[in-house]
Amino acid sequence: MRGNVIVGQSGGPTSVINSSLVGVYKTAKDRGAGKVYGMLHGIKGLLDRQYVDLSEHIQSDLDIDLLKRTPSSFLGSCRYKLPEIRDNIEVYEQIFEILEELEIEAFFYIGGNDSMDTIKKLSDYAVLRSSEIKFMGVPKTIDNDLAMTDHTPGYGSAAKYIASVMKEIIRDGLVYDYPTITIVEIMGRNAGWLTAASALAGGEDCEGVDLIYLPEVPFDIDAFMKKVKELADKQGAIVIAVSEGIKVADGRYVFELTDHVEFVDAFGHKQLQGTAKFLADKIGAELGIKTRAIELSTLQRCAAHMTSRVDITEAFQVGGAAVKAAFEGDTGKVVVLERISEDPYICTTSCQDVHKIANVEKKVPLEWITQDGTYVSEELVHYIRPLIQAELSPMMVDGLPRHLRVRL
Ligand code: F6P
Repeated sequence: MRGNVIVGQSGGPTSVINSSLVGVYKTAKDRGAGKVYGMLHGIKGLLDRQYVDLSEHIQSDLDIDLLKRTPSSFLGSCRYKLPEIRDNIEVYEQIFEILEELEIEAFFYIGGNDSMDTIKKLSDYAVLRSSEIKFMGVPKTIDNDLAMTDHTPGYGSAAKYIASVMKEIIRDGLVYDYPTITIVEIMGRNAGWLTAASALAGGEDCEGVDLIYLPEVPFDIDAFMKKVKELADKQGAIVIAVSEGIKVADGRYVFELTDHVEFVDAFGHKQLQGTAKFLADKIGAELGIKTRAIELSTLQRCAAHMTSRVDITEAFQVGGAAVKAAFEGDTGKVVVLERISEDPYICTTSCQDVHKIANVEKKVPLEWITQDGTYVSEELVHYIRPLIQAELSPMMVDGLPRHLRVRL
């Protein structure tokens, strides 16, 4: 491979997304690519000709080590939906003109199911244009809702963070001799994988979370209030994990039951926020119990000081595998992880057609949720546990983790 390649990051960041960037960069360089460009703010930035030569920003092995430990998207991100090709072919012509000008032979996009829509459309247009440019998707999302893959890079670290802080919140929650309730709101949009990770908090040194509510099961507010009252009468302190995406039977998100400012992104996703606060206020008002709402919010996807080494390693591997596949002629595909052994845990990579992955949301199977919808099964815990194993310590400078950032 003598030509140039380009890589972009898209959608919500994770704490290991830069390990995939390093995987693309290093593998492309090792396999003889010319320049490795980085789009700034994904495809949206590329349309505005915003890109960098990554060699100018990753200059040493130390930079690579720092980048792996740097949370969020090094190159910036976007939530930008390309139009349908038939509706606006000019956008595609514009993108391909830029790619041809830069002598790009392979294009890599690190993202979730919405971002894979970009790879799908660009690879479809490449066929129409008879372009030789290869388009490959590199999976990432803390939500773990990508189809056809055992799990997504980014999920394991977010799960590790969630289970860890849950243990700490539970310790804190148990201090008083009067009832208290803590409701922790966890990301994941319409899939409950992340919220389910709170079940990993329970163990010989921790009582565990009392209730877990995932968006896969309609949320019954009356049944919830009844359950909370019963538990509070019995045990005092309660810790509850709720997904940001839980909905009542009529399809409204729980946070929509209160006054809220609605923000909708380019993919039509509402900003999900306020579920824990709504429920905490309701409990406080109706049951008179001291209740606290905690939104883990962005903390769960940028906690680079608490990543899973398994996750960091796999994030690197999927980046590398995408480069290898493109250089061997693949296009219009996404690298996926296949769990080939449970004990010991072993995952390999393969490639799947992007048309089967773009815009598809993979939910938690109902058999992994208890019948009453208030907890998750041991099988689900067993599925998550290998993904949170081992650590990659931050490089500390002056008492704080050191990161790498693009200097423009
Ligand atoms: O898709 C990942 C994710 O972190 C979701 O869990 C969450 O709902 C969403 O992104 C939030 O996105 P933003 O940061 O754009 O509000």
